[in-house]
Amino acid sequence: MLRQPSIEAMRKFGYLGLVGFIVFFQLIHRISSQPAVKEDDIRCLNITHNQLKDPQDYLYSWKFDSSGHGFTCNFLGITCWHNDDDKVLSLSLQGLGLQGGFPSGLKYCGSMTSLVLSQNSLTGNIPKELCHWLPYLVIIDLSHNQFTGPIPSQLYNCRYLNVLRLNGNQLTGKIPWQLAQLQRLKEFNVANNRLSGPMPAYFSNWTASGFQNNPGLCGPPLTKTCSKILPSISL
Ligand SMILES: *[C@@H]1O[C@H](CO)[C@@H](O)[C@H](O)[C@H]1NC(C)=O
Ligand SMILES: *[C@@H]1O[C@H](CO)[C@@H](O)[C@H](O)[C@H]1NC(C)=O
Repeated sequence: MLRQPSIEAMRKFGYLGLVGFIVFFQLIHRISSQPAVKEDDIRCLNITHNQLKDPQDYLYSWKFDSSGHGFTCNFLGITCWHNDDDKVLSLSLQGLGLQGGFPSGLKYCGSMTSLVLSQNSLTGNIPKELCHWLPYLVIIDLSHNQFTGPIPSQLYNCRYLNVLRLNGNQLTGKIPWQLAQLQRLKEFNVANNRLSGPMPAYFSNWTASGFQNNPGLCGPPLTKTCSKILPSISL
């Protein structure tokens, strides 16, 4: 016999599935109706190519003298939204010995959802504008480079972010509490940097391995406790 509660449960499940679908559809719709035209993305890759130092010439396939719809979609590391359209969906340049600073030319690839530049020799700061330029990023992987400076608190502007890997750099300063606003964040790794200060409470029940080997970092989930500064006693 089908009882009332199970019908209720089915209704509820159907409703949640519908909400999930609508959120997903809105994201796709917002990206595909972006004013960013393909010329922007070609310009993006051209400038990025000029900005990156590529001593082993891994990016030899990045040639801008050709034309035709979707010619950049054959470049190493590039996936397009559609193969006849040069709109970049993801960029993955991993372990290619690339040098230089963070390539700011990427700001013109506004529909990008995944940015992987791990295991290179990139230096300098992570730009605080990154998530203003690329608001639809779901994955940011800048791990195993030589980035310095702070983790920009403005990364919370990447509202769709699921994965943020910044481990294996030389980042300093505190973990910004603003990152707790990243509601979809599932993976966060800042291990092997030079971060310091107390862990934001939000991360206290996350696995410790994502935070290890930062000499100045303290508080749960790390075993190192933050030393309290005792008020001086005046006699
Ligand atoms: C790429 O950049 C170079 C150097 O700035 C420029 O001369 C060339 O016109 C650009 N090509 C395209 C297709 O944008
Ligand atoms: C941490 O605890 C909060 C609140 O109880 C919970 O919503 C969240 O899923 C937990 N996060 C992890 C990574 O376990």
